[in-house]
Amino acid sequence: MLLLYYAVAAGAAAIHPLREAEIAEIRERTSLWTPGETRFSKFAPGVSKWLNGVKGEWKMEVAIALAAGEIERFESSISVPDSFDSATQWPECEKIINDIRDQSNCGCCWAFAGAEAASDRMCISNGGGEMVPLSAQDVCFNSNRDGCDGGQITTPWTYVRSTGAVSGGQYNNSGPFGSGLCSDFSLPHCHHHGPQGDDPYPDEGDPGCPSESSPDGPTACDSDANETHADFANDKYSFSGLVQAATGETRIMQLIYEGGPVETAFTVYSDFEDYVSGIYEHVSGSYAGGHAVKITGWGVENGTKYWKVANSWNEYWGEDGFFRIKKGTNECGIEDEVTASPATTTWSKAGKPLVDY
Ligand SMILES: *[C@@H]1O[C@H](CO)[C@@H](O)[C@H](O)[C@H]1NC(C)=O
Ligand SMILES: *[C@@H]1O[C@H](CO)[C@@H](O)[C@H](O)[C@H]1NC(C)=O
Ligand SMILES: *[C@@H]1O[C@H](CO)[C@@H](O)[C@H](O)[C@H]1NC(C)=O
Repeated sequence: MLLLYYAVAAGAAAIHPLREAEIAEIRERTSLWTPGETRFSKFAPGVSKWLNGVKGEWKMEVAIALAAGEIERFESSISVPDSFDSATQWPECEKIINDIRDQSNCGCCWAFAGAEAASDRMCISNGGGEMVPLSAQDVCFNSNRDGCDGGQITTPWTYVRSTGAVSGGQYNNSGPFGSGLCSDFSLPHCHHHGPQGDDPYPDEGDPGCPSESSPDGPTACDSDANETHADFANDKYSFSGLVQAATGETRIMQLIYEGGPVETAFTVYSDFEDYVSGIYEHVSGSYAGGHAVKITGWGVENGTKYWKVANSWNEYWGEDGFFRIKKGTNECGIEDEVTASPATTTWSKAGKPLVDY
């Protein structure tokens, strides 16, 4: 294994001089996070631009939806602790909160982060009674015609609220929820960034992980769906009340503390492509795009406050699929706006409240 790794590293993947300079600069300028030679090391910084699928200015989009009364501003005065992890707070939903998914070679981050956070909040709201992953396939390809080309952080939530999302697991029945759900993600796993390590999946762009255009949105469940998830119209999960948006460190903590993980977006600079572990702060490199992710908690390490964030680049990436980023300084706009279902809401399946099941 080791030999193969070195052969690859020394051969095809020689480090690009600009990348080498960027990594050296990160090492010099921050001790909060560790960069490394990754899949991207053979390319000049900025190559991941096309991966990051949040369109335009998410702050503006949220402001427009608020002004139109389509969503509402979350308000709270609850006090929150210095450290908090949704998976520890709600152990009955830990399995779904820590379910790291894989968006494949498709700019569907906006749908993954929303479907994931909505699944967690539904589970938490029902005390663990309904632990079902909501389908990224349904949310990405039915709520927005642009699918793999990008979307907004409000779209998944307004779609789940008004139309409902069916259940759906990971590609080819992989992941902690296995088989039997209505509409699994149809695009293959890929190795995204970071050292290859034990990641068995092909690199983006290599055979097995081609650049994807959006398939048609599903209108029926997969043929291997179990009886309880086999009828598309009857497998639609939705919630009541308006979608909520929170801004700023305190409100975001309160929104998570009251109801679980939330969707956010942040600006990716090319140094994020070098992330291996630690508390990310932007130190070097140019703008590469917007990326949507799910915040699950926060904490403090050696006096530095951070958010704990689930990415959708599979569980081999970063810190077991998560990364941490500096909290309280609106690092890369991560505290600009987050979106979620209300903490006090009623979740339904095909119009019937889940508490009645
Ligand atoms: C905190 O300190 C420990 C021990 O020195 C170190 O291993 C770790 O990397 C530090 N973490 C951060 C985020 O600086
Ligand atoms: C799907 O999963 C099965 C069993 O886990 C595996 O044998 C098969 O190779 C996978 N197929 C693809 C296309 O990944
Ligand atoms: C579907 O049924 C199979 C076989 O009984 C079971 O292993 C699996 O957990 C079920 N999946 C769901 C989502 O209920």
